[in-house]
Amino acid sequence: MTVLQVENLGKQFQMHHLGQSLHAFDSINFTLAQGEFLLLRGPNGVGKSTLLRTLYRSYLPQEGHIWYHTTEGRIDLARAADVDIALLRRREIGFVTQFLIARPRVAAEDIVAEPLRLAGIPAAEATAQARLWLAEFGVKRDLWRAYPTTFSGGEQQKVNLARALILPQRLLLLDEPTASLDAGARAALVRRLADLKAQGVAMIGVFHHPGDVAHLIDRDIELTAKEVTEDVAV
Ligand SMILES: Nc1ncnc2c1ncn2[C@@H]1O[C@H](COP(=O)(O)OP(=O)(O)OP(=O)(O)O)[C@@H](O)[C@H]1O
Ligand SMILES: [Mg+2]
Repeated sequence: MTVLQVENLGKQFQMHHLGQSLHAFDSINFTLAQGEFLLLRGPNGVGKSTLLRTLYRSYLPQEGHIWYHTTEGRIDLARAADVDIALLRRREIGFVTQFLIARPRVAAEDIVAEPLRLAGIPAAEATAQARLWLAEFGVKRDLWRAYPTTFSGGEQQKVNLARALILPQRLLLLDEPTASLDAGARAALVRRLADLKAQGVAMIGVFHHPGDVAHLIDRDIELTAKEVTEDVAV
């Protein structure tokens, strides 16, 4: 079943103070089915993060469509109302960045358990599962009740991943999730992504070390400065 169908997607940034626009990407076309994994490639500044943020609708595109398919029909994320986007983000579309948005005086295990609690899972069980994921990603037990605002960059990233991946979603967008992770956490992340893929989660990701996920990739898209080509890999 198709999850996402991107048609002729294009984005520029208007740089008002310079009186000019900056080309981010154009003519992006691809279709992603349940359980498929798409790798985005290209040099620094070519628009990979911008494309992921546009798919997540943090940015509005100027051209094209982002058809997200559900059992009730399809919705164009490029034009959907903010309220519909908010609902989809809560239930179906996840985004993993390199950065944890740590909140003051919220314990690591509560940050990780929150998506489960919002999904209606009782607090005690949500916390128990959160601890399993913190352990899996290699966060020391002493830190589970501590506040991540003071954690190291790598520790924050582990909390971030545990939270983002605890609840399987239909579509997962990943922006360099392995940056700043040690080997153990990288291996745990790859195991989790393989498991999510097997459960039917569709994924689009940018990876600093694409070799980590080579066995998961179904397709890749190379972004280039002016034009975009899509090719089928593996
Ligand atoms: N909000 C913004 N306003 C203006 N320009 C932006 C904005 N966000 C990104 N850009 C520009 O768009 C271009 C693409 O940036 P983007 O972050 O998508 O690149 P990237 O491919 O993810 O690079 P990297 O590999 O370094 O992460 C860059 O030239 C950047 O300066
Ligand atoms: Mg980027």
